[in-house]
Amino acid sequence: MIDPRALLAALADGRPVSGNSLATHFGVTRAAVWKQIEKLRALGAPVIAGSGSGYRIAAPIELLDRDAILAALPQYPREQLQAVDVHWQIDSSNSELLRRAQGGTIDLRACFTELQSAGRGRRGRHWHLPLGGGLAFSLLRPFDSGMTALAGLSLAVGIAVIRALEELGFRGLGLKWPNDLQHAGRKLAGILVELGGDALGPCHAVIGIGLNLRLGAHADVDIDQDWCDLASIGDAPLPNRNLVAARLLAHLIDALDQFERLSFESFVDDYARYDALRGKTIRVPIGSEAFFGEAIGVDHTGALRVRTADREILVDSGEVSVRAMVGSS
Ligand code: BTN
Repeated sequence: MIDPRALLAALADGRPVSGNSLATHFGVTRAAVWKQIEKLRALGAPVIAGSGSGYRIAAPIELLDRDAILAALPQYPREQLQAVDVHWQIDSSNSELLRRAQGGTIDLRACFTELQSAGRGRRGRHWHLPLGGGLAFSLLRPFDSGMTALAGLSLAVGIAVIRALEELGFRGLGLKWPNDLQHAGRKLAGILVELGGDALGPCHAVIGIGLNLRLGAHADVDIDQDWCDLASIGDAPLPNRNLVAARLLAHLIDALDQFERLSFESFVDDYARYDALRGKTIRVPIGSEAFFGEAIGVDHTGALRVRTADREILVDSGEVSVRAMVGSS
């Protein structure tokens, strides 16, 4: 039996490797290698079988590595983190940290995974993570303030993700309220924040981030909205995954400290810079009805301000969509 992570690692640098040498290396038959390659492919790894040249991966993949992530972290976040776990496969990194919190372990810790068998998006949706093509992780963060003081937290997380990606050289990023990260109107990353604990006392947030790095051919089948990935935007070359992971973690930890000290109010100006809805006519569903209005920013709690013909309405939960222009495709 070949360890799938070890097989992917053997192909990770993008050079072709023959079925024979893989079989010898892992002490199995060529048929067993082929079978495991097919499994990697089904999980989304872009493995190409060349006639006579063996197997190779379409683009080099850096597998997640705990020590590499820790080494790329600045000292402050590294010292704050009680643990950074890296899994090959779990159900969902958010679920994993929620279980820990329920079990009483509530400290600052990160959980990364190469694969999720039940990755979760907002509003009960599935989150698609092709093997090696994205980054999926969650951070558990305790707060003393009570859950009621955490309004706007998920918007602050969106800003932290943009700060990290800008530091890596990516531009033109925006936030579609409440916290979809977009580039040119297409989704690049999603954020799922789940809270637990007391309304007015000790509580915790599990902050899950899914970022598209290089989605490849499997994506269209599984994603029900316009999407993009880091590989296809901007001029910056795709940075290695452990570095992206470290930058995201560092900015996230900083932003959560800022949030704890100064609340969402301190992020409102930054949100305005990244607000992808501002000035657009949006549709806001309420039950089976909907109303239309102009998005005019967010208030100090992160609620969306919508101007209708006769008044301003604050929307503090749910999803909104941009009204398609008549005649546009
Ligand atoms: C969304 O846009 O719907 C939110 C997507 C959040 C996905 C991430 S991937 C890591 C973490 N674990 C999960 O199961 N979900 C979040």
